Amino acid sequence: MYFNLFKIQEKQDISKQKFPAELKSVKIIDMKILAIETSCDETALCVIKAEGDFHNAKIEILGESLLSQVNMHRKFGGVYPTLAKREHSTNLTPMLSKTLKEAKLYKEALNKKIPGREREEIKKILEKENTLSQTLIPFLDSTEKPKIDKIAVTYGPGLEPALWVGINFAKAISKIWNIPIIPINHMEGHIFSALLKKEYRKAYTLRKTGFPALALLISGGHTEFVLIKKYGKYEIIGSTRDDALGEAFDKVARMLNLPYPGGPEISKLTEKAREENIRAEEIDLPRPMINSDNLDFSFSGIKTAVLYKLKKVEELDEKIKMKVALEFENAITEVLVKKTKRAIEKNDIKTLLLGGGVSANKHIKRALNTIKEKSFKNLEIYFPNSELSMDNSIMIAVAGYFNSNKDTREDINAEGNLKIDN
Ligand code: KG4
Ligand code: ZN
Repeated sequence: MYFNLFKIQEKQDISKQKFPAELKSVKIIDMKILAIETSCDETALCVIKAEGDFHNAKIEILGESLLSQVNMHRKFGGVYPTLAKREHSTNLTPMLSKTLKEAKLYKEALNKKIPGREREEIKKILEKENTLSQTLIPFLDSTEKPKIDKIAVTYGPGLEPALWVGINFAKAISKIWNIPIIPINHMEGHIFSALLKKEYRKAYTLRKTGFPALALLISGGHTEFVLIKKYGKYEIIGSTRDDALGEAFDKVARMLNLPYPGGPEISKLTEKAREENIRAEEIDLPRPMINSDNLDFSFSGIKTAVLYKLKKVEELDEKIKMKVALEFENAITEVLVKKTKRAIEKNDIKTLLLGGGVSANKHIKRALNTIKEKSFKNLEIYFPNSELSMDNSIMIAVAGYFNSNKDTREDINAEGNLKIDN
């Protein structure tokens, strides 16, 4: 068990936290969803209770566990897929137990054992998940079916070995507890993460969206503009032609001898540099594709430009690191702002949604907010709360609620390159 190596996010009892009266809209649906996210290096599980039609939904987090493997991947300078898979396999069952207990949905079953035929079926489902099977089967043997209506699980995009663990876990539970599964696109989760407005520590409502909306998804694996005519109808209208933005942050950070993940490290340096009024124009990095008449990006050139600059540097001291980080952040932010303005203008956008780990970047946030102040007064801009910008299970649960009529008993496969267009 690697639990002691991680910081488990402990959640407090929500039973005393109630929504205020004005938020009590007419109850249309009332559903409990178990959500599972294992697409990369976070293992995340939660149970939410959702009520109301989607746009007026009230979401309560009944139980949640999140384990980041980031400390383990750090020594590899990035996510190491085999390790990610192993960690998901080791941690999912204890996390399910903890989450159900916190949600007050756990009940020990006395003298119960999964009958022979079902036992063979889940053994087959977990055939390639030896570690998981060793904890999950005894857990299911000794646990009563909880009152959960649906299971939402990420099936792509992401690292396939990691995705498979979550999917097989979901399938085994679904089989034994007879609960349908809703397959979720991770990127749709990131879109919904921006909508969640925190009312209390464990209670959220959904912010109102004016359509057409635009999502700018900037993560370790993706950089794309998604045009949203309505939720569920997505069109990618621009994307990176090479590296994702988070990947560029991570690679530049590595060149600066900063630990993985590099985004937050670069951001720390640049915030300090801005406070100290340090300027870095002399580093002079390119603004790739800033004037191209499309909504695409390219970040590999800027990374190479950093490499060449650093070759000329005699000593990589703190000051140089700060300057390179600052000029890099300024360059990519200028590109993001220009392209985002173009996308808003071209498509008469009413709501801009930010999603993905890089959306936590303070400078990018400030710069995008000035778009509203300076150019588009009526635009709504929503950023995810800090705890929801990185990978998490709440966004998967909300995507599950939105797609709750798309549950399935069909086979689900991991799709590493799943797209959001339809
Ligand atoms: O969405 P996410 O948690 O995982 C993926 O689905 O990829 O994004 C992780 C990425 C990493 O590349 C990380 O360096 C970057 O988000 N990131 C940041 C910041 N916080 C995380 N990049 C820039 N500034 C930040 N504050
Ligand atoms: Zn993500």
